[in-house]
Amino acid sequence: MSAFPATRLRRLRRTDALRSLARETRLDLDDFVLPLFVGPTSVANDELPGMARHSIEDVVAEAGELVSLGVKTVLFFGIPEEKDDEGSGAWADDGIVQRALRALRAEQPELVLVTDVCLCEYTAHGHCGVLRDGEVQNDETLELLTRTAVSHVEAGADAVAPSDMMDGRVGAIREALPETPIVSYAAKYASAFYGPFREVAESVPQQGDRRGYQMDPANVREALRECALDLGEGADVLMVKPALPYLDVIRTVRERFDCPVAAYHVSGEYAMVKAAAAKGYLDERQAALESLTAIKRAGADIVFSYWTKDLARWL
Ligand code: PBG
Repeated sequence: MSAFPATRLRRLRRTDALRSLARETRLDLDDFVLPLFVGPTSVANDELPGMARHSIEDVVAEAGELVSLGVKTVLFFGIPEEKDDEGSGAWADDGIVQRALRALRAEQPELVLVTDVCLCEYTAHGHCGVLRDGEVQNDETLELLTRTAVSHVEAGADAVAPSDMMDGRVGAIREALPETPIVSYAAKYASAFYGPFREVAESVPQQGDRRGYQMDPANVREALRECALDLGEGADVLMVKPALPYLDVIRTVRERFDCPVAAYHVSGEYAMVKAAAAKGYLDERQAALESLTAIKRAGADIVFSYWTKDLARWL
């Protein structure tokens, strides 16, 4: 009797060891970046379970724990005590992120400190740039973003990540900071999945939305134009954001450009799994590992994820 079917793909699925041998994509903690929120006081975030907002004192302690767990890179978001029309807290020498950077730089010299460069957490109106007559002004915003990036680097940031989606911001920052790595949120979509983040960062636009500067979720060719422009202006890493609804974009950017490609698995993507797990609908660890593996498989070299600290324990 001839064995039929001849092709038996299940042969390599029989045991854990065989599955591991045949595995094409692996998760490595070194590829992951943990976002951290710094604010005037420490508070738990109901919208992002497991992700607290840290005071400066607490963020130093948290960083120590992260380093001991093997986490190598963090991304900072600041929530200032007061906001104004300009967003001046973003570039203030004694701003929340600047103070956190100075405290951490001294305590954890090895930890890679990346900062999100944007104005929306600092403006009273909640938009990512200078607002006039209901319009976010592109060119005026560039100067403020550059000032912010420079102040972060002066306070000890290793790399800056502009997330505002103004045209020309990578070039403007590059001119002021020739030696600093720029992680560009190049293909950042106007997404419903930023909801929990905006609650935590208190950055919901008071009027209107971000569709005048963030990308239309329907477009992938336009994402490639964004990426080409940002690389030309001096970006070192191109980011796609969110991640799971945009795996095709990650794959296309990976194939087209020979620089490191990052993906940001955002607050809404994370919170959905957390909420479902809390209801007992799925297993958080398995869903997280599957989601993050899919993002790597699509082609991301670097993944920004709220699960990074858990990952350090899971892997
Ligand atoms: C700031 C910024 C946002 C996120 C990262 N940087 C919010 C937004 O654009 O509204 C979202 C991160 C997340 O949802 O996890 N512009």
